Amino acid sequence: MKNILVTGCCGYIGSHTVVELLNNDYNVIGLDNFSNSKREVLERIKEITNKEIKFYECNMLDAGKLETIFAENRIDLVIDFAAYKAVGESVEKPVEYYINNVSSVLTLLSIMKKYNTKSLIFSSSATVYGTPKEIPITEESEVGKTTNPYGTSKLYVENILQDVYKSDKNWNICILRYFNPIGAHTSLLIGDSPNGIPANLMPYITKVANKELDCLKIFGNDYDTNDGTGVRDYIHIMDLALAHIKALQKLETEKKGFYIYNLGTGKGYSVLEVVNTFEKVNNIKIPYKIVERRKGDIARYYADVKKAKKELEWEAIYTLEDMCKTSYDFMLKNKGE
Ligand code: WQD
Repeated sequence: MKNILVTGCCGYIGSHTVVELLNNDYNVIGLDNFSNSKREVLERIKEITNKEIKFYECNMLDAGKLETIFAENRIDLVIDFAAYKAVGESVEKPVEYYINNVSSVLTLLSIMKKYNTKSLIFSSSATVYGTPKEIPITEESEVGKTTNPYGTSKLYVENILQDVYKSDKNWNICILRYFNPIGAHTSLLIGDSPNGIPANLMPYITKVANKELDCLKIFGNDYDTNDGTGVRDYIHIMDLALAHIKALQKLETEKKGFYIYNLGTGKGYSVLEVVNTFEKVNNIKIPYKIVERRKGDIARYYADVKKAKKELEWEAIYTLEDMCKTSYDFMLKNKGE
């Protein structure tokens, strides 16, 4: 299974996964529409790996363009990252989120079926759990009570994939539920650099560190957590990328199936703990102010990671300090670009 199509290949998680695919001698065909990424990432990937990918600029809603990729390349497996991912934005723009995050996958699946490519790794999210009944969250925890259209869009796709698998057991599908990916590649050539004002915590903090933004707004400190600020399971992007290689190897070697894994560290940190750690490891002050809660947010979640450890033989190894250090160093190395 050598030819891998990576959608959203220039994005934060996509680009780090492409690097690991190339390091593991897979052939990568990539597509991106640069809605939240930059073409320059392709050069950075080449600089890191000394290898190139076959790239198509393509919006996944463009069925004709997407089909061309399958007509021109034998695709053995697809890793689908291409999606909008900001919780707050999704509350403001639900229709855009459902079109972009759900319709694009339906287009992809119909073309995959036509070309008999039935192996798929799908980039899902811990937000499918909504407000969890128990913590840490296992893959068997209840899903469905999502609190924002972003999470709901991911849940819809998970349900679609389950129906596809039930309709034809020749499909081989792995759903990866990411917790909160942060950090940058050890080369500092790729990292999280969203276009515009960041929606997510860490890229916002790094812009404050770089004085591009004057102050971090902490969305609420009245949650039922140790310091009142939201708790999340932050996972280093390098750990997350490696987990995709493990998932790919599982789809390559085991019997066809429908698999779901949480990808986190199993530890939860509050916003203030992240800020304090960032300040400590980078010897910098991050001014912040407490503001009202963000719509769609929940108080706390972190993963039970036993299943991925057992079945993928994978576990996260990087620390919150590593995540804060590489995030800051990536910003320093690339500021002004
Ligand atoms: C983290 C914490 C905020 C920004 C979502 C998706 C998840 C993943 C990451 C794809 C929360 C607080 C944030 C800020 C703040 N997406 N915060 N001020 O919403 O937990 O997860 O993005 O990979 O799938 O669900 O991430 O970084 O936006 O928020 O106080 O300016 O930081 O309230 O407690 P989130 P986030």
